[in-house]
Amino acid sequence: MTSNWISIDQEKCNGCKFCVVRCPRVFSKVDDTIVGQANILNCNLCGHCISLCDPQAITHKLLDMQNFPPVKPEANFETGQFIDFIRNRRSHRHFKNKLIAREELEILVDACRYAPTGSNIQSVELVVLQDKELIKQLSEKTVTIFEKFGAAADQRIKELETNKESVPEQLSRTRIYGERLKEAENAGLDPIFHKSPAVLIFHSPKDSSAPKDNCVIASTTVSLLARTMGIESTYIGLFEIVARGNEEILSALNIPLNHEIYSVLIMGYPRMKYHYQVDRSPIQTSWQ
Ligand SMILES: Cc1cc2nc3c(=O)[nH]c(=O)nc-3n(C[C@H](O)[C@H](O)[C@H](O)COP(=O)(O)O)c2cc1C
Ligand code: SF4
Ligand code: SF4
Repeated sequence: MTSNWISIDQEKCNGCKFCVVRCPRVFSKVDDTIVGQANILNCNLCGHCISLCDPQAITHKLLDMQNFPPVKPEANFETGQFIDFIRNRRSHRHFKNKLIAREELEILVDACRYAPTGSNIQSVELVVLQDKELIKQLSEKTVTIFEKFGAAADQRIKELETNKESVPEQLSRTRIYGERLKEAENAGLDPIFHKSPAVLIFHSPKDSSAPKDNCVIASTTVSLLARTMGIESTYIGLFEIVARGNEEILSALNIPLNHEIYSVLIMGYPRMKYHYQVDRSPIQTSWQ
């Protein structure tokens, strides 16, 4: 099938065939000429053909041809410096009473689009939550739900004990978690979002390709990028747990009900300064 969504300027094409090697479903050599021919369904909009084509011979009608700036080789880290950047990161839960400027948040949001997604599905969406009252309400709701989880765990533990069955450790933890969160809340703390100036909620349609991975990769990208701006963050799995399948929470955030929240970050300007990198267990590795 002839494609009308991709074209090759034969004047510019030097015949290097990188496009053919990278994407043989679309590009081929026909009568000494490189052509791009395929049903659009063969294309996942990865942009690799354009990125590989040094003389800029390829035009893709569904991609913004103005948004292919040259690769910048100087934008690289020395290995040890990059390891230090990773090791310098800490989860921050104490923030200055200072808003993150809209322009800074926009830089972070925009960078998400360049994080990889399964099959290049690009289905990660974001809620940037700065409304203090809504943050407080959602925090309180999360604590209430954890209290309910605790009561249910308590009930289950009693049943297991009556039947002289062993109690899984996770169940024992769940029993006390709600209580601990409530105690912190009663003490005037926000045990969920830690009174952060911004909460970033990453969501995707449940039926998209690898939605959890995509959201976590996007949030990790944002979290690391934010560090270059003096902004620190923490993943908030507690909220993710209670938001899962919770229509009331999704609706409060204007998130479509066929979506799921897959990653959550609190962020702000840190109040604490960590002076030392921390120890972690070596990764169990099987070299085969
Ligand atoms: C998937 C995930 C979920 C997390 N959820 C929470 C959370 O709900 N609340 C919180 O205070 N910290 C949360 N954290 C932060 C971890 O506790 C923290 O990353 C860990 O203790 C290691 O500390 P570090 O990030 O400073 O290395 C979460 C981290 C990850 C990776
Ligand atoms: S990558 Fe560009 S220059 Fe190379 S063969 Fe394909 S269209 Fe021609
Ligand atoms: S954008 Fe990706 S999938 Fe589409 S034609 Fe180019 S290389 Fe192939």
